[in-house]
Amino acid sequence: MRIFVAGGSGAVGRQLLPRLLQVGHEVITITRNERNAHFMKSMGARVLLADVFNQEAVITAMAEVRPDAVIHQLTSLSDMNFSENSRIRKEGTRNLVEAAQTAGVTRFVAQSISWAYEPGDGPATENIPLDLNAPEPRIRMVDAVATLEQAVTALPEYVILRYGMFYGPGTWHERTGQIAEKVLRKEMPATDGISSFIHVEDAANAAVLALGWPSGPVNIVDNEPASAVQWLPVYARALGASEPDYITGMERGERGASNAKARLEYGWEPIFPTWRTGFSRSLASQ
Ligand SMILES: NC(=O)c1ccc[n+]([C@@H]2O[C@H](COP(=O)([O-])OP(=O)(O)OC[C@H]3O[C@@H](n4cnc5c(N)ncnc54)[C@H](OP(=O)(O)O)[C@@H]3O)[C@@H](O)[C@H]2O)c1
Repeated sequence: MRIFVAGGSGAVGRQLLPRLLQVGHEVITITRNERNAHFMKSMGARVLLADVFNQEAVITAMAEVRPDAVIHQLTSLSDMNFSENSRIRKEGTRNLVEAAQTAGVTRFVAQSISWAYEPGDGPATENIPLDLNAPEPRIRMVDAVATLEQAVTALPEYVILRYGMFYGPGTWHERTGQIAEKVLRKEMPATDGISSFIHVEDAANAAVLALGWPSGPVNIVDNEPASAVQWLPVYARALGASEPDYITGMERGERGASNAKARLEYGWEPIFPTWRTGFSRSLASQ
């Protein structure tokens, strides 16, 4: 297939491009900067320079390529700029969807998250609604996620990958990432809040497979949702940091997510099945 990848130079994108090329897809990607263009060309992708906020440029690029499918892995989080990231989710997604429709694309795979669900007991499954009644500031994040997810339903076939918290190369949890630095400075206490994790290699593998999955949302998370009291000491140890402090309580919606749909219905299996062994495995190779 001819695949148009938006976000090919990001944490998931860098894992995704070689995997798509390896299974025989033709890959065309966009970036805003020459250095990333050079890097992605060296992998074997065709690269176009375009900013997703420039609607005309995105429409022109997509019309030129006429892909069979679009994979949207855009975020704007390397500087933890959450308002810019919401803009990417809303305006960036809208531009990609409109460009895809104009170019006659029928299949769209998009990156979303697995911690925007309504609060409740136990890991969230995909039939649980997004937390649209959340108070500020959470509602801003949920609203942007809901807008992204709604926008992609305009395509005849769409898969929404609700990823867990990323770890692995290029993420906030890598040895030099923002979370690692906080933990090394002992500035991140463990709470009762529950998260689901996913290694970026598993995130990328799921995006390749999603080209053949049925339409709808699917959680792409590992097998073991866990409270920070459980995972943070394991992560700190893998980093060589001291034991984190503990404070009681959790944020709204910190419930983790279930991967039963991906595993049982689609046959997907994570190669990093749990953060328990994944953190040290991943940090040892960095
Ligand atoms: N589920 C999660 O836990 C999650 C999800 C997303 C991100 N994160 C975290 O966020 C951090 C940064 O993520 P990242 O490495 O993927 O980088 P990023 O800075 O979020 O950028 C991701 C991709 O989006 C592209 N992009 C951003 N704005 C764009 C625009 N206006 N037009 C066109 N392309 C645009 C970038 O392309 P160019 O820069 O090449 O133009 C890049 O390929 C990581 O540490 C990761 O852990 C976490």
